[in-house]
Formats: sequence, structure tokens, C-alpha cells
Amino acid sequence: MANKLWEKNFEINKEIERFTVGRDRELDLYLAKYDVLGSMAHITMLETIGLLTADELKQLLAELKKIYAVCEQGKFVIEDGVEDVHSQVELMLTRKLGDIGKKIHSGRSRNDQVLLDLKLFTRHELKEIAEAVKILFDELIQKSNQYKDVLMPGYTHLQIAMPSSFGLWFGAYAEGLTDDLLFLQAAYRMTNRNPLGSAAGYGSSFPLNRSLTTKLLGFDSMDYNVVYAQMGRGKMERNVAFAMATIAGTLAKMAFDACMFNCQNFSFVKLPKECTTGSSIMPHKKNPDVFELIRAKSNKIQSLPQQVMLIMNNLPVGYFRDLQIIKEVFLPAFDELKDCLQMAAYIINKIEVNKNILDNPMYDPMFSVEEVNRLAADGMPFRDAYKKVGLDIEAGKFVPNKNIHHTHEGSIGNLCNDKIQALMNKTLDEFHFENIKEAEKQLLK
Ligand code: ARG
Repeated sequence: MANKLWEKNFEINKEIERFTVGRDRELDLYLAKYDVLGSMAHITMLETIGLLTADELKQLLAELKKIYAVCEQGKFVIEDGVEDVHSQVELMLTRKLGDIGKKIHSGRSRNDQVLLDLKLFTRHELKEIAEAVKILFDELIQKSNQYKDVLMPGYTHLQIAMPSSFGLWFGAYAEGLTDDLLFLQAAYRMTNRNPLGSAAGYGSSFPLNRSLTTKLLGFDSMDYNVVYAQMGRGKMERNVAFAMATIAGTLAKMAFDACMFNCQNFSFVKLPKECTTGSSIMPHKKNPDVFELIRAKSNKIQSLPQQVMLIMNNLPVGYFRDLQIIKEVFLPAFDELKDCLQMAAYIINKIEVNKNILDNPMYDPMFSVEEVNRLAADGMPFRDAYKKVGLDIEAGKFVPNKNIHHTHEGSIGNLCNDKIQALMNKTLDEFHFENIKEAEKQLLK
């Protein structure tokens, strides 16, 4: 039991320890790299306010860089008996450097360490999510342009409604992602503020230079009020979860469409056979499991904001151990969303579209509005034209003209994909990911 940061002159009950440490030894591994980076910034600042000598700082930074390398190799472990990542890093430093290692915690608490670690981890993951969104976006735009002239039925109430196109269908999901990314950016900007210096949630009597750690860690600015900084725990996770859920919502809807359009009764799209799965009993089956799993996993991600909210709901001001449990649902969610985005991009790239859907006369009525509009353009009052075409359809006399001509912005003949692409690029540029990359590079130099 010699490894507890808060150990005094009594031993903690084993069962209490097991229950309170919970899954931290496993989940804190997500945070290890960032705990080290945070410590590097913190001690660099401590030296400037006279709490470490230049020599002590040098030794500590060298050791922390080694620990960072261990994390990068995936070899960082939290030993049995050690509570969490913060304790493990401090233990490794004191083993190597003795008393110097014990100095790094001045002006800091595990409460703001974990806050900081979560923010550094999350902003890195949000960057990866934004990049994965862009890859899917590019696939969708490419397919939209490629099949801009291939018509398909549009539905309302799942009833054949009006002409649509693969250009519109693929492009709609691409544009959806531009909105989702805007949401993600708002979450990113809230995440990209420095909480370090809040200590246990009420600041410190040391003259901490928070502007310096903000700059060293490449944050846009800080969470100024130390009480608010601590309140960010849980709130940040909730806001980010909402942004992830928005992306997941787009994925789930697209996956459902794809499953439906892939069904033989529709036969609008098809997956190459190597991208389908078989049945153990029915030899003919080629199932779109990929889309089904994207749908289910994305739906699961859409429950994340609720899970986070229910864990932190109604907590008053200040730190509580409840917040630890958020890590269990929050930390693994990024890999799941990235996996879904990557598979979606992969499968959209492979998807084949049926270019002859409209040869089937079943879809003829969807041209009814085109005919009504033609008559109205020639001078017949719209209501009369509507009635005439309706009666023709009833009487089996309707002959569709499939040469459609839609010209307004965002319609079949004028997709505005260049505008959608410009929106996406603008939003991506506004993240300024280069700032965090540069700061991390400088710290590790
Ligand atoms: N494992 C803890 C968490 O995630 C770290 C902070 C511990 N702080 C405390 N006051 N017990 O919340």
C-alpha cells in the first residue's frame, strides 16, 4: 500500500480501495501521454516562479520525455497497488529522481490533472474525428458528382414521391457532415481552454503563471475562473458527446438508407460480394452487415450524451468522485466513432449504384409533378393541371416524360457540390489544429 499519493498513517480497507479505484488502472491509460505533457508544462512553469531549480527542471523533463516515449510505444502500465495515472507518473519520477520527483505536485491537484488530461486527450481525438469526417465527406462528394445524372425515386411516407438522384442522395449526407463539423468545432473550442491551475477547484496560494501553461500546451485561452474550470469536468464531456452524437446520427440514417436501398425489393444499390456477409443456413445470402453495425454503433453513440448527463446530473459545485465514472463511457467512444467513420468511408467507396432503376414502370407516377408543372408553365392554372394529371393517372393514361430539368440551387441539375465543399474546407480551417501540433512539438523538443 506504499504507493498512494495521499497515504498517511493508516491503511485503507482493501474492498474500499478496489471499489474506489474501479477501472481507473485500465481507463487512465488513454490519458497517460497527456498526463506527461501536462506535467511538462506545469513544471516548466514551476521553475519560472522559483519552485524548482533549473537543474531539477532539466532532470524532470528528461525523465518525463522517457515516460512519454514509453506511452508512445504502448508500454505504459499502471502497476497493481497504484491508484491512477497521476500516481504512476509521480511514482516513476520519484523512483528515478528521489525527492525531486516529489516536487512536481506543487500547486496542483489530481482534480485539475485529470481535467487537463481529459481536455488534451479530447482535443486530440476531436482532431482525428474531424479528419475521419473529411475522408467520408470526400467519398460522398465524389460519388455524388460521379452519379449526378443517375435518377432514383424520392420518397415521402416511404411512398414513391418525386424524382431524386444519386447526386442528391450522396450529396445530402456530405452536406450533413458540414453541419456536424460545425457542432464539433464548437465542442472543440470549449475543450481547447486550459483548466490547469484550478488545483482542487479553488486555485492555489502559489503565484501560478497560468498564461504560461496555456501557451505551452497550445490552448486558445484558459478557463479563467478556477471554480468554473472544475465545473468543466462533465460539462466538456457532455458537449463533446453531443457533437459526436450529431455525427453518429448522420451515419445511422445513411446506414439505414443503404440497407433499405440494398434490399432486393429496392435494388438501388449493391455491395460487391466481398463486402457482404453470408448465412450459415441460406446459401444465397449476401448481407449488408457493415451498414447494420454502423447503424447500431452510431445509435449507441447517440446515447452517450444521456449517459454522461445522468452520471453528472444535479451535482453541486466542486469535485466529486462521480465524475470518474464518466471516463468509462466517454474515453472508449472515440475509437468507436472513428471506426464507424472509417468503415463508412470504405463502404461508400465500394458501393455500386443501379443506373436503370426508372426502367421499371412502377416508378412512373413520380413524374406526375413534372407534368403538372409543364402544363402550368404553358398557362393552365396549377389546380386544373393537378386535377388533369391525377385523372390521367387514375385512368392509366399517364405517359411520363422522364427528361427532367431542375435548375435551382441544390436541385438535381444544380447540386452546388462546390459550395458544399467550400463550406467543409472553411470549417476545417477554422479549427487551427496546427496550433496544438506546434505546441506539443515544442514541449517534447
Ligand atoms: N480518478 C480520479 C477521477 O477520475 C482522479 C481524481 C481524484 N481526485 C480525488 N479528489 N479523489 O476523478
